[in-house]
Amino acid sequence: MNSISIQLKQLRILPVLVTNDTQQAIRCVTTMADNGLPLVEITLRTPNAIKIVQQVVRACPKVCVGVGTILNPQQLKQAQDAGAAFGISPGITSTLASAAAASAWPYIPGVGSASDVMLALQHGFHVMKLFPQDVIGGVNMAKAWAGPFPQVQLLLNGGVTQESVHELLHLPNVIGVGGSWICPTALVNANNWEQIGKLVRDAVASTK
Ligand code: 3PG
Repeated sequence: MNSISIQLKQLRILPVLVTNDTQQAIRCVTTMADNGLPLVEITLRTPNAIKIVQQVVRACPKVCVGVGTILNPQQLKQAQDAGAAFGISPGITSTLASAAAASAWPYIPGVGSASDVMLALQHGFHVMKLFPQDVIGGVNMAKAWAGPFPQVQLLLNGGVTQESVHELLHLPNVIGVGGSWICPTALVNANNWEQIGKLVRDAVASTK
C-alpha cells in the first residue's frame, strides 16, 4: 500500500484546494492540519499552482501534499518535481496511466465507467477516484462495482457535502471522500480560517 492509500485509510477525507495565492494556500493547509486533516490535494487549476505546491511542501513538512487535476504526463512530471507526495486525476488515459505506473509514484487515476476501472487495473492501480460522484451516482456506482471489482477501493469526489460524508464513507469499497466543501474558495479568499477550521472539525467528526 502506498503513502496516499495509507493516509486515506486513516483520515478518510481529502480536502481539495483551489487557490492562486501562496500565502493563502499555506495558511489554509496549516489550518486544516491543525484541525485534524494533515492531507491536501492542490489542483492544477490556477496559473501559480505548481509554484504554490513547491512552497506548501516546504512550509508544511508534516502535511501530505498532493497535486490534483493532472491531465497529462507533463503535468505528472511537474507535480513530482515540485515535491508532491502523490498525484490524482479526474479521469484516465492510457498514456497518463502508463507514465504514472512507470514512475512508481503514488497516483490515483480517475474513473467514471467500468471500462475506466478495467484500464486502471490493467496499469496496476487499485485505488481510484470516482468522479463526479454526485453526477453519476456515487453510492449506486460503488455498490454495483463491488461485484465485478472486489479488489478496487474508491475515493468519491464531486459535490460531496458535510451531509453526505457519513453515508458515502459507510460503503465498504469506499476508502475515502474528497472535495472542496472543507475549504471553499469563498472562505479561502475571505481568509476565514476560523470557519475553515470548524468545517474540518465537523468533517473529521463524521469519519468516526
Ligand atoms: C475534484 O477535483 O475532486 C472536484 O473538483 C472536487 O469536487 P467539489 O469541488 O464538488 O468538491
